[in-house]
Amino acid sequence: MFLLNDRVALVTGASQGIGEAVARSLAEAGASVVLADLNTSKLPAVQAGIEAAGGTTLAVGMDVGDPDQVKAAFQQALDRFGRLDILVNNAGITRDGLAIRMKPEDWDAVLRTNLTGAHLCAQQAISPMIRQRWGRIINIASVVGQMGNAGQANYVASKAGVIGLTKALATELASRNVTVNAVAPGFIATAMTEKLSEKAVEQLSARIPLGRLGTPADIAAAVVFLATEEAGYITGHVLAVNGGMYMA
Ligand code: NAI
Repeated sequence: MFLLNDRVALVTGASQGIGEAVARSLAEAGASVVLADLNTSKLPAVQAGIEAAGGTTLAVGMDVGDPDQVKAAFQQALDRFGRLDILVNNAGITRDGLAIRMKPEDWDAVLRTNLTGAHLCAQQAISPMIRQRWGRIINIASVVGQMGNAGQANYVASKAGVIGLTKALATELASRNVTVNAVAPGFIATAMTEKLSEKAVEQLSARIPLGRLGTPADIAAAVVFLATEEAGYITGHVLAVNGGMYMA
């Protein structure tokens, strides 16, 4: 059993899907969890669920792409808990379309949330982690950031960027005992993928050796592992959780 007692974690995009599952699992392992999201309407329900199970939470509203909001949210977390041990950069969006027709605003929105957002949050987490001589930054990338995907140039570029950011930060922070890793999910059943038709899911599953889409819990388990003391010698790694659909 991996334990995170006395640890404080901040999860972005925690109101639903993978972020919600990650927050629940970190809390189950014993961490206090700061639930951060642009859309705060669902946070009270997530918070209530975690607290009913004995967890400790703080909900904060923030747009990960806005430096001032990010700074204020991290300050709220530090004011409440006095430390920050684990950052999970999970907030992400898609604005799909073929590159030839991609609107500049769709390119910018995806890069701003998925890549700039991860950088801005990591930037705020670095000082407390360095002070503590202990930290875990876990970035949610994507299988398509490793293998490419038609119709997602902005998203793929952002996730490949997240993998590069992970390696750069891992190198910068290793001497301070702060590890930085990425989890690269395959296709996971969440709101992001529910727009897919039954046929598309069937076709996708046929390309996945394990024969099914992943679940948010599959990703949460990998994140919890990377957050533990026991994972302390792993840094700059991209952990594929994709049912075998891409073996880098
Ligand atoms: P989702 O759409 O269900 O949840 C994303 C969450 O991020 C939402 O709560 C949303 O409000 C929040 N968010 C969006 N923009 C934000 C911003 N600017 N600031 C703060 N919060 C913001 O998505 P899902 O599926 O749970 O995805 C989570 C992460 O996993 C994303 O980074 C996504 O790219 C990644 N991923 C998902 C896969 C999938 O198949 N579902 C596959 C590979 C990666």
